[in-house]
Amino acid sequence: MSDLLATKPLDMILTEAGETGEHALKRALGPVNLITLGIGAIIGAGIFVLTGAAAAQYAGPAIVLSFILAGIACAFAGLCYSEFASLIPIAGSAYTYGYATLGEIFAWIIGWDLILEYAFGAATVASGWSGYVNSLLQDWGIHLPPSLTATPGTEMVLYHSRWERLATVQPVLDKAGVASGSLPHITGSFNLVAFVGICLVTLILVIGIQESANFNSAVVIIKVSIVLVFIGIAAAFVMKHPSVATANWHPFVPPNTGKFGQYGWSGVARGAAVIFFAYIGFDAVSTAAQEAKQPQRDMPIGILGSLVICTILYILVSGLLTGVVPYTALNVPDPVAVGIDATGVRWGSVLVKLGAIAGLGSVMLVMLLGQSRVFFSMSRDGLLPEWAGRVHPRFRTPYISSITVGIFVAIFASLIPIGILGELVSIGTLLAFVIVCAGVWLMRRRRPEIHRPFKTPWVPFTPIMGIVVSGLMMVSLPGDTWLRLVIWLVIGMAVYFFYGRHHSRVQMARRKPVSKPPTVMAD
Ligand code: ALA
Repeated sequence: MSDLLATKPLDMILTEAGETGEHALKRALGPVNLITLGIGAIIGAGIFVLTGAAAAQYAGPAIVLSFILAGIACAFAGLCYSEFASLIPIAGSAYTYGYATLGEIFAWIIGWDLILEYAFGAATVASGWSGYVNSLLQDWGIHLPPSLTATPGTEMVLYHSRWERLATVQPVLDKAGVASGSLPHITGSFNLVAFVGICLVTLILVIGIQESANFNSAVVIIKVSIVLVFIGIAAAFVMKHPSVATANWHPFVPPNTGKFGQYGWSGVARGAAVIFFAYIGFDAVSTAAQEAKQPQRDMPIGILGSLVICTILYILVSGLLTGVVPYTALNVPDPVAVGIDATGVRWGSVLVKLGAIAGLGSVMLVMLLGQSRVFFSMSRDGLLPEWAGRVHPRFRTPYISSITVGIFVAIFASLIPIGILGELVSIGTLLAFVIVCAGVWLMRRRRPEIHRPFKTPWVPFTPIMGIVVSGLMMVSLPGDTWLRLVIWLVIGMAVYFFYGRHHSRVQMARRKPVSKPPTVMAD
């Protein structure tokens, strides 16, 4: 049992973090790169897609409060991530923090769990991205074979000369009194667009961290500009038509229908759990710790800076959106485009689609970056095969890891429906938050003397709140998502007991203390 709970000594981790040379990752990122990396991962499908449905179905105009609530919840976790990322500036993020504090078995669980966040997260977003790309191509008269634009089993109909997903277009058909059975119909077989999207992003990641960061920065400028354009146009509309906005904002918290989560305060809470997805990604900054020039100083700046900026943007967007359009009309896949249309600006919806395509592109990039860096760290620790940690001598990126992850994620994105992927991503991320918060608290008790470049304020209050709030959001997710999480973790345990445990460097150090000098703190 003590084997399973062996922790990786901090000195060993810090020595690895300081490695240089052609087999080490390249330190190229400054504070601005790290903030843009965070924004790159955060702003995506959450704000561009989920906000409308969450306002329409759960919270009404009080979706603003849901965003504030989810933002506060993420802030607790973000503060804990910041302490660890500056103390243990290594690519493995939560996995490495778990190794240093809770022991190998927990580290493995968290590393395996992070696959749900990063790899499945990238696949989820690729699926949403393909929807926007396809929609824009159709706007421009380019029609791809419809069965190659959706995952197997997705029903699509031809409506107004456009192939649309039935689930997406159904409300429009209902409103127009059109029976879906009367329309030409096809079933998706392979989402080629999502597949190609992931392949392109993987290519950029293999070529270099600086190239990836530059691409990400360019995309972030585009998507933040488009979000700001929306804010500007919507704010001007609200100021010009205050009576419309006032009517749309009343009642601000629509009365509960009698069912938990349908408006009222429980609706605000459910809205927060749903749009939590919109915040996922700030923690991915921590996986770039080994590529940061000054991780001790800049990791907290990247994590907390991106979180604060996105929270402010989200509050403004959701507040203005529900002022411009009645919340009951927002149950659409492109609420921000609908919002801009409602202001009378005709070119708005194309702009928003471009913003979403760019935005979701960078989310895929940072998620895939995070996944390959976690695998890199796990491989360096011996828990995954050696090839996963190989660094390209010229590009200085973990290229085999990136390519392998890219291939798997491209396949997931083209074959698995977006709904199943999305909830797995949320539960996986929340579990990582719980473990990181617990780890910060534990480390403070076990090693109070270590110099921490960034200290989480109000310990243990902050980590406890992080654990409680993340735990509550996990509980609000459906039972079958929990079942999938458990199955996923059981598969992970099998991999660990068949492979990782026998190849672990920490375990080897325990078995041969003379040839491998670092001491291991056993629990
Ligand atoms: N926060 C990311 C998004 O909303 C995952 O797409």
